[in-house]
Amino acid sequence: MKSVAILGCGVVGSGVARLFTDSAARIAKAVGEPVELKYVLERRDCSGEPWAGRVTEDFDLIESDPAVSVVCECMGGVGAAYQFVRRSLLAGKSVVTSNKQLIAEHGLELLELARARDAFLLFEASVGGGIPLLRPLTDELAANRIDEVFGIVNGTTNYILTQMIAHGKSFAEALREAQALGYAEADPSADVDGVDAQRKLCILTDLAFGSNVPPETVPTEGIGGVTAADVALAASLGCAVKLIAHAKSLPDGRFTAFVAPRLVPETAMLSQVSGVMNAVAVRGDAVGECLFYGPGAGSLPTASAVVGDAVDALRRVGRKYIDWGPEQPERFVHPDALPWRWYVRGRGALALPGAETVAAAGGETACLTGPMTRAELDAALHGREALACLRVLE
Ligand code: HSE
Repeated sequence: MKSVAILGCGVVGSGVARLFTDSAARIAKAVGEPVELKYVLERRDCSGEPWAGRVTEDFDLIESDPAVSVVCECMGGVGAAYQFVRRSLLAGKSVVTSNKQLIAEHGLELLELARARDAFLLFEASVGGGIPLLRPLTDELAANRIDEVFGIVNGTTNYILTQMIAHGKSFAEALREAQALGYAEADPSADVDGVDAQRKLCILTDLAFGSNVPPETVPTEGIGGVTAADVALAASLGCAVKLIAHAKSLPDGRFTAFVAPRLVPETAMLSQVSGVMNAVAVRGDAVGECLFYGPGAGSLPTASAVVGDAVDALRRVGRKYIDWGPEQPERFVHPDALPWRWYVRGRGALALPGAETVAAAGGETACLTGPMTRAELDAALHGREALACLRVLE
């Protein structure tokens, strides 16, 4: 018999508790012996839930119980969650977590601690919700030099954009729906402003390029500035507007990483990723391009990834020592310094170099430029005001 504890019983934690309860036979088969959900750390009333009898407010109880070999952290944030994860690892317990902020901000240190204590620290659920993504990136693609990772990693903003594009809903209405469905962060500005996607991109970049990328170093733009006009003009240019997290290596070993709304050509599979679904493309030198697609948020999809990690940690199989090195600021290139094609919306004619297509609506024009840096674009605009400038994903 193995024992686990869950820290936090909100959207994700309750899904994890449900799986340990309802899928106990399947989990026991995967682990090779029964797995008992021994504790659920939660202050809120859980009466009526099948795990109500295991609820405690006392983390010390979990920390000091040698029977608990795996702790599932589902609290979120970097306050108590950080302290409890540290203390669990120090006590020699393995930790699995869905907490992208924790891993993006403290992953380097916590992974070192896990290694020192011969414990697992796994975080598949932190990026892409239920999609198996990090394990393929680190294990199945281990033979590859990873050249690029890009995709849709925030379900809430993709849900909002999809509702705006496909159903003409307002931003506020679509956000309310995403919150009601349990997709949004406790503070949904982290979704809307791109901060959640930034944290996830840091984890992907850390793993893909091997050096720590602090979230504050990653240029990040949310979807707050995307208008119905942009969505409509993009469509007439054969593109969809998507919030894209993008990390790309350069031939000299440096790399860029940024989060921004982008125009995605309708011929690209990413343009068809709708609602809460996420999709991340990984380009490796041996494998070429793989696309990982699936539900990026929600209780049971995220819990599925947490429990998958817990099974590995309980069996003590899989790649235990996932890690990356310290930050190398000299390798980071700001995306503005690199050439991209741009979507530009403005009033009147926009004769920009290399512009291929022009559409018009309500007295505004939009075009797709040839590749240019941000400074080259500003120079080409000759002081004319652009109402929107979004990079094209190619
Ligand atoms: N708020 C996040 C999202 C939850 O919408 O993608 C999953 O990380």
